Amino acid sequence: MERRTKVIAIANQKGGVGKTTTVVNLAAALSARKRAVLVVDLDPQAHATLGLGLEKQPGVSLYPVLLGEKPIEDVIQPTKWNNLNVIPSEVDLAGAELDFGAREDRLEMIRNALAPVREAGAFDYIILDCPPSLGIVMTSSLVASDGVLIPIQAEFLAMDGLALITSSIERIRQSVNPSLDLNGIVFTMVNSQTKLTQDVMGEVRNHFGEKVYETTIPRNVRVSEAPSMGTPVVFLDPRSKGAESYKAFAWEFMAKNPTRIDTPVIPPAPPAPATPATTPNS
Ligand SMILES: Nc1ncnc2c1ncn2[C@@H]1O[C@H](COP(=O)(O)OP(=O)(O)OP(=O)(O)O)[C@@H](O)[C@H]1O
Ligand SMILES: [Mg+2]
Repeated sequence: MERRTKVIAIANQKGGVGKTTTVVNLAAALSARKRAVLVVDLDPQAHATLGLGLEKQPGVSLYPVLLGEKPIEDVIQPTKWNNLNVIPSEVDLAGAELDFGAREDRLEMIRNALAPVREAGAFDYIILDCPPSLGIVMTSSLVASDGVLIPIQAEFLAMDGLALITSSIERIRQSVNPSLDLNGIVFTMVNSQTKLTQDVMGEVRNHFGEKVYETTIPRNVRVSEAPSMGTPVVFLDPRSKGAESYKAFAWEFMAKNPTRIDTPVIPPAPPAPATPATTPNS
């Protein structure tokens, strides 16, 4: 089987928009579809690490690899689930801005660190969970990536936040990484269909067109409970609305980002609407 590894950064400088939840559940849903996935947790909060059921361990993160102290193979950890691996985060990464800010290769450092894994071709997807800031970690993650996926909430000022990150993407594209693509935008924690939600979604879709994923992720209590169990909601409660939407999103993502050169991705047809019971009038 021939495959090409895709590196996707999940990023938004705004905090709490569902980046980590999207990383964990997209990765889980892809792995369940037999895609080999490596999650790289680049946020010192280590929520992706914990959400995938791993503990933080000193020295097990990308940090010593960036320092040239360990080969990357030494920090890749398997999870409880097949095809799903993670490079955990640890508190040391919090010092990255200071420790690496003056390095000449700071923009390329994550790209260089990931290069051996990427070239080995053992993974379909390498998914980077970025911290919520436009600092050196996020910037060098974008330099390392083929595409950026932006989770956003349909709220007031959503377009302003998008303008900020898309201009960073543009700057990086024009300088260090011409092949960086806006992979897409996904709406997370979608509440009821309020007018504000619909207006914001309409505005973003008008502006970004097909870059906006059709699938949206609803606000769902099972999604918020899953991290404390160290299990992605797509495994914890696969029938919940949150899990179903992340699985549908993973199909859409795979169809847009094929890595198996020989096997096209054909998403399953959505379930047929329930046939209404025949009434005397129908
Ligand atoms: N669809 C959802 N339904 C309900 N709660 C959600 C959903 N998505 C995320 N959450 C919750 O919202 C909070 C923020 O989500 P998450 O940690 O994924 O955001 P983030 O963008 O990674 O945050 P940070 O910027 O701090 O890294 C978490 O408590 C998470 O459990
Ligand atoms: Mg996060």
